[in-house]
Amino acid sequence: MKALILSGGKGTRLRPLTYTGAKQLVPVANKPILWYGIEAIVEAGITDIGIIISPETGPEIQEKTGDGARFGARITYIPQDQPLGLAHAVKVAQPFLQDSPFVMYLGDNLIQDPLGDFLSYFQAQALDALILLRAVSNPSAFGVAEVDPQGRVLALVEKPQNPPSNLALVGLYFFSPEIHQAIAQIQPSPRGELEITDAIQALIDAEKAVEAQQLAGWWLDTGKKDDLLEANRIILDTLLAPDKQGRVDDQSQIIGRVKIHPSAEIINSSIRGPVIIGADCRIVNAFIGPYTSVADGVAIEEADLEHSVILQGAQIIGVQQRLVDSVIGQRAKLTVTPRQPAALRFLVGDDSQIEFSPRRF
Ligand code: DAU
Repeated sequence: MKALILSGGKGTRLRPLTYTGAKQLVPVANKPILWYGIEAIVEAGITDIGIIISPETGPEIQEKTGDGARFGARITYIPQDQPLGLAHAVKVAQPFLQDSPFVMYLGDNLIQDPLGDFLSYFQAQALDALILLRAVSNPSAFGVAEVDPQGRVLALVEKPQNPPSNLALVGLYFFSPEIHQAIAQIQPSPRGELEITDAIQALIDAEKAVEAQQLAGWWLDTGKKDDLLEANRIILDTLLAPDKQGRVDDQSQIIGRVKIHPSAEIINSSIRGPVIIGADCRIVNAFIGPYTSVADGVAIEEADLEHSVILQGAQIIGVQQRLVDSVIGQRAKLTVTPRQPAALRFLVGDDSQIEFSPRRF
């Protein structure tokens, strides 16, 4: 059994964060999304992992993630020149996959359920495809399955305008080598991609053994800002092991589940968990409220924030109004300089969003 993680693509929906980096490397609770997938795969006993990468973001993924030794796995990087679809990625990976069955994991998905039970079922039933479904309120944003009352998959359709059900395809699939023949039969969709849904449909039409199961735990497709904040909230809520290290002075208060890196410095501040604070951060005269992840090298001074994700090297200084529901990109600076005349000065990147809520009087 091998694993194929799809970590190419363009990542347009998380812009501007993904102008400079891969969306699969955006951290959730200070760990790249992609790494959660690798860990889940290794936990299921699969250590031969191929990762699809794009020319734009592949080198960064490769450099950060390495050869797999840190995860107890062997990683093979597989370049895909253009994001021509999930089935295209499988085609490109065929020399790596050969005739092995494999689990395919979308590198921007976070899935709570362990893979082991699904894998055992897939193997025990000798299936050609096992797909996972989850009821969602916005099925048009996903691949959607039509199932009969017994739960058998009748049809799959990618991002339909009129969804046949509310059952979305989760970004985790188990395939036998039959999938390669199915991919060889399909044509690009109207959006120009070779769709994995069409390939699975070809398996269904050829009466191959295709089954679906429903996920029990949470599942997050971290493609957009609010999904990312939600993923951060859930991971901090469920997986954060408190570890209060760092240099914390006597004037500071650390309450609840908080993880602080030993090299972080906390001065005259309150931190109310769940919160994670990375290496070399400087937190001075600040309040950091629940569901906040602060990456390495961040400075937060004279500021007040909660339910936010602050990426590496960002600076938030003098912002007295509470910052909420925010994602602040790498090395971004939010500063208020008291001696300047009252005015707002910005250097805001393309596709950024800034929202001001007026104070209530
Ligand atoms: O998240 C679940 C959904 O994922 C499913 O419900 C859909 O059926 C499936 O098509 C997929 O939809 P998305 O629009 O979310 O796919 P996205 O373009 O975001 O790509 C998913 C991952 O695969 C992401 O990590 C990028 C990578 N990728 C994507 C394409 C199109 C590649 O590596 N190569 C590609 O050619």
